[in-house]
Amino acid sequence: MKTAVVTGGASGIGRAVARELLARGVHVTIADIADPEPAAKELGCAHVQVDVTDARAVRDLMTGVKAGHGRLDFVFNNAGIAVCGRADEMTLDHWNRAIDVNLRGVVHGVHAAYPIMIDQGYGHLVNTASVAGLTPAPQLLPYTATKHAVVGLSLALRAEAARHGVRVTAVCPGFTDTPLLDNANPGLPATSTSSNARAAAVGVVGRLYSVDALARDILRGVSRNQALVVTPATARAAWRFARLFPAWAVRIAARAV
Ligand SMILES: NC(=O)c1ccc[n+]([C@@H]2O[C@H](COP(=O)([O-])OP(=O)(O)OC[C@H]3O[C@@H](n4cnc5c(N)ncnc54)[C@H](O)[C@@H]3O)[C@@H](O)[C@H]2O)c1
Repeated sequence: MKTAVVTGGASGIGRAVARELLARGVHVTIADIADPEPAAKELGCAHVQVDVTDARAVRDLMTGVKAGHGRLDFVFNNAGIAVCGRADEMTLDHWNRAIDVNLRGVVHGVHAAYPIMIDQGYGHLVNTASVAGLTPAPQLLPYTATKHAVVGLSLALRAEAARHGVRVTAVCPGFTDTPLLDNANPGLPATSTSSNARAAAVGVVGRLYSVDALARDILRGVSRNQALVVTPATARAAWRFARLFPAWAVRIAARAV
């Protein structure tokens, strides 16, 4: 039986991905800093309470699944937080927390799981970035910086990992209907935009993407071994526009601000 670890699996995208994996007969372990037991009970999967900023805990999570099941097929490095506000409002705590969770959390997952996957000769690392990792996303600087880093990490690792039989995918969703948008800057000082992240997101895209549709898109992209899963169509359009017309993309973002 294939196995998967999903960080941030107690809520939102991670929980929906876990549900899709379970429907495909994969043994799933969800890991979350919040108590993952209620979600695990509802889904019918294994769970571990883990803070992805803790490298040792993440290593124990990956080696535990490998030791318990003899294999580690998928690791979804998905845990993340929204950190938003104007650049001049950001404290170093905003920056450091975003880097610790959104970037170091992924680094810890990769660092722990990649050697296991090399040793096996197979495995798939799926790192959740964002369309904010492909476009200029103002008033989200710590967030967008970490998500650009996750895209870069994933594409470069993909190029290295292929020779070991290990696959790497970066997931870049547009605004999706999850609790993330109601809980911006968790444990951090509020900013001018942190209490209305959901309304701001709706203002940009009109309608938030369904988390279940997103989970299906992610698993389709993973089964096709895509380098990037950029979804929905509005996110792909923003990404393509920013690649073709980077200066215009910044001007449009400035107007939106
Ligand atoms: N919702 C969106 O619009 C959107 C868009 C693009 C990308 N994303 C990304 O998708 C991922 C999942 O977000 P979501 O929308 O499902 O949000 P969510 O808040 O519903 O879920 C995130 C989960 O991560 C967990 N988490 C936070 N810090 C953690 C830590 N230190 N260790 C372990 N777990 C931790 C939370 O407890 C939560 O259960 C994030 O990386 C987010 O940046 C979300």
